[in-house]
Amino acid sequence: MQRRVDLKASATQRPRHFINIDAIAADDLRKIMDAAHELKKAGKRAPEHLQPPGVPDAVLAMIFEKPSTRTRVSFDVAMRQLGGQTIVLNHGDLQLGRGESVADTARVLSRYVDAIMLRANSHDSLLEFAEYATIPVINGLTDMSHPCQVMADIMTFEESHGDVTGQKIAWVGDGNNVATSWMHAAAQFNFKLAIACPGQLRPEKATIDAVRAAGAEVEVTDDPEEAVRGSNCVVTDTWVSMGQTDEGYRKQLLAPFAVDGALMKKAQKGAVFMHCLPAYRGHEVAEDVIDGPQSVVFDEAENRLHAQKAILAWCLGGLA
Ligand code: CP
Ligand code: NVA
Repeated sequence: MQRRVDLKASATQRPRHFINIDAIAADDLRKIMDAAHELKKAGKRAPEHLQPPGVPDAVLAMIFEKPSTRTRVSFDVAMRQLGGQTIVLNHGDLQLGRGESVADTARVLSRYVDAIMLRANSHDSLLEFAEYATIPVINGLTDMSHPCQVMADIMTFEESHGDVTGQKIAWVGDGNNVATSWMHAAAQFNFKLAIACPGQLRPEKATIDAVRAAGAEVEVTDDPEEAVRGSNCVVTDTWVSMGQTDEGYRKQLLAPFAVDGALMKKAQKGAVFMHCLPAYRGHEVAEDVIDGPQSVVFDEAENRLHAQKAILAWCLGGLA
């Protein structure tokens, strides 16, 4: 049972948490996306009108309960390029790691820093953190979702195909945390999303129902070809997410959902291939796809930096 926190309210009043894409007003999401494109064009120094209030004194703390390469480095560099400062904290180095409560940690850190990015094992502990923090809390991945990743993914898609509104994206593979953020995004950015995954690894029914009720055109199938037909983008992710232990079972179920050249041919001409990385070549994606001409995975990784600058600017009270 997930904690009940009124995160919708935070879209209009401080602190501006960035917990899930479905909890932020669509107008704000579009502003963040437009700022991300602009920040990329601007390069290392953010233009003054996109710098958040409070820099150069604003400090972002990042807490990692799980490993990270892209999220760790891109957030760190993003905050510095916005003119602010960063502190990276590993979960085991905090008293949190030996039993101090999430609530007390959130209240204490709120007295020191201006925003917190948390990569948490459990989405519930992220929600608890946000409930007690008096500063913005950003979801740097949980077992439920990975919203910063999907903001960068949509940005990457728009670089080759223009406004994502009305376009079709196909997700092929595990119905995991990244897939959940794609579903939230489909409702907010109004694009069609087709998810192909084994019946046993579908995203939660409650999430599918909720995004459909919010107007999203989300199709869920066990046929990868059906999902990619007519799509301008094919996305996949690792078959075994951090913290999952049933590797053999998952690999067996997901084998028919590998993205290879034959599947890419069923998508629209000019379709791009995306993967949040880290990737396991020869498992969820064939080498010739991820290293081939349709792949935009390294633009996608770069765009974490630009998208997160925009997210930070918004969370810290900018992009008015
Ligand atoms: N895609 C992503 O979040 O990568 P990291 O786990 O390296 O941060
Ligand atoms: N689904 C993956 C994403 C890694 C960035 C995981 O949670 O491990």
